Order: sequence, then C-alpha cells, then structure tokens
Amino acid sequence: MRFETIAIHAGGEPDPETGAIAPPLHLSTTFELSPDSRPLRGYRYAREANPTQTRLEIALAAMEGGEGALFFASGMGAGAALAQSLEPGSRILLTHDSYYAFQLLAKDYLEPFGFRCERVPVGDPEALARALREPAALVWAETPSNPLLNITDIGLTAALAHEAGARLLVDGTFATPALQRPLELGADFVLHSTTKYLGGHSDVLGGAVVFARKDSFFERVLHTRRILGAAGSPFNAWMVLRGARTLAARMRVHSENAQRLAEFLATHPRVEKVHYPGLPHHPGHEIARRQMRAYGGMLSFEVKGGREAAIGVVAALKIFVRATSLGGVESLAEHRWSTEGPGSTTPEGLVRLSVGLEHPDDLVEDLAQALTTRA
Ligand SMILES: Cc1ncc(COP(=O)(O)O)c(C=O)c1O
Repeated sequence: MRFETIAIHAGGEPDPETGAIAPPLHLSTTFELSPDSRPLRGYRYAREANPTQTRLEIALAAMEGGEGALFFASGMGAGAALAQSLEPGSRILLTHDSYYAFQLLAKDYLEPFGFRCERVPVGDPEALARALREPAALVWAETPSNPLLNITDIGLTAALAHEAGARLLVDGTFATPALQRPLELGADFVLHSTTKYLGGHSDVLGGAVVFARKDSFFERVLHTRRILGAAGSPFNAWMVLRGARTLAARMRVHSENAQRLAEFLATHPRVEKVHYPGLPHHPGHEIARRQMRAYGGMLSFEVKGGREAAIGVVAALKIFVRATSLGGVESLAEHRWSTEGPGSTTPEGLVRLSVGLEHPDDLVEDLAQALTTRA
C-alpha cells in the first residue's frame, strides 16, 4: 500500500462498539481488572497504555514501516526516554547541528548522569568514521537539521554506525514519514516531534519514537516511559492521529510553497545565503533528492548585514507570524539566534521560516516587502 493510503487508514478501523468511523477518544485513566488485578481487555492504567494512543502508535509504525512506535508527551520526552533507556555510561554521538534543546539535554542531564555525549558532524562520513573508532551505543542524526537544513545520508550513516556496533537514531521531524522513511534506509529508530507536521495545526504537543524492531530495547523504552512518566495524553494522541490523516496532502503543498520561496530568496540582493535542500546549489541536494520525496516546508536564510538586519526583516513581515515552532498551516518566521539564546551557534543573521499553506504569491509578496523595508 502507498503512503497516502496507509496514513489515512492505519489504526483507523471503525469502533467495534458503535461502528464510529472517527476514532473514539478514551480519556479513562484506569481500566477494569480481573479479581486478581489482570487487565481484562489489554489495558490497566493510562501511564502504561491507552486505546487511543494505541491507534496512533499503530498508525505511526505503519507510516514509517517500523515494527512498533511509542507516543510521548513531547518530542523532548521521546528523545530523553530513548537516551535514558541506553546502558548507563553509554557513549552517544550527537550530531553537532541537532535541535538545540537536545544539545542541552546532553549537557545538562545525560552527561551529569554518566553518559558520554560527543558532538560530531554526523553528516560528514569521515568525521563520523573517525569518532566511531571508539565504541558508541548510539549515533543521533537529524536530517534535515534544525535550523540549518543540513542533510545527512541516512543509508551511509546507518552502515557506518552498524559496522561499529552502534545503533542509528534519525530525528525526522522536518521531513515527516510523508517525505522520508529512515527505517527503510537502515536506521534503527526515527524520532518525531509530533507537535510539528504530524499534528499539523500548532495546537498539540507530542513526540514519538518509531522502532525498526520490536525487541528488548523497545520494551526498555516502554518501561522508561512507564516509570519516568513522559506518556502522551489520550487527547493529544487523538489530535495527532487526526493530523496524520492529512499529512501527505499538507506536505506536498508545504514543499511546493517552500521551494517557491527558496527560489525567490536565492536571487534577492539582500540575501546572503538560502538554506533549503530543494535548491540545486545546496550541499545536501543530491542526497536529499535520493532519500526524500520532496524537500519539506522548512527553510532558513541569512540576511546581509547580520543580526540587526535579520531582526529588521522579521519585524517587517505582515503575513508570516513571528513565533517559534513549525509545521502548522500558518507561516511562521523567527530570528533563530535570539530564540536559542547565549551559546547558540546559529548564524546571527539567520531567519528561519516555517512555510505554511497560504497562497505562495502572498508569501513571496510579504517577504519582498519585508526585504525592502529598512529597519
Ligand atoms: C527537530 C526537532 N526535534 C525535536 C524537537 C522537540 O520537540 P517538542 O518541542 O515536541 O518537545 C523539536 C522542537 O522544535 C525539533 O525541531
């Protein structure tokens, strides 16, 4: 079956009790047990599992082509639970350009608790091979990366990781399974902030890990979720499942609109550099062309004149809303360095755009007027 069909039907069988086509939302935190406290219908307590969440997890696993999936309270909760499920003291190679809060997770939590986290340019095969001369438990890639849209060759990275006895996690939040399926290319785990495109409407927080194999490590992450408690709520699972049904159609338009904007920005005299893998000059373009169905709705660009000039452009936008996060139907713009704060390695002149589903002419016109406005 093709992706569009899977995304609409997986986990969507009519409710056995009523025949309802829209999935029922089970808010119950607790479920009837046998006299000796065994679950009668598979569920006991909502921190362990919940029927609405199960539907979403079936859908996510099917969309990614994995054997299992786990839903969490947020993307951060998903990543933290996976890392915390590794053996204590494990060595983790985290890509140097990962989402900045994962860098903070490594520095402020994993390292003080005995994990050995190293920032490596995971997308550079030579640098990764060098780092893998010493054993590692996990290679953590992010492609396309936030906010620089760097591309990592998933197949090559999986081969290098596996050769060295490590497992590969790919954060595929920007691409979604509609555009990129890392497990088919050899990754062991895919991470999503479902807060973004999977939810799709800027109104639900959630995260997920999809597993190539439902093995003992899957059970361990499930145990971590149960005991450390970052379980997603049933309502949020229901919202993400609803978003997943339209994911393929939305990602097509997000990608078309972003390509149009990237091409416009690439020729603009006030723009220093555009980061979008759909542009032929992007250093990851060829790899992205091979491993993605389209290039997605995220792009960033550097304004000539640096920090003040970039803030001036963001200030002048009228349709793009100034906000962080991404993946909703509305277009957002953000001066990323200001969001990330001190210690950010993002170029100070960089503006990050989450390109929405508005008419592309309106978005181009908005960018054009903002780029001609002098702060
Ligand atoms: C690439 C990426 N991964 C993970 C996360 C974390 O997800 P959440 O905000 O749902 O915790 C984000 C959030 O922006 C992200 O952009």
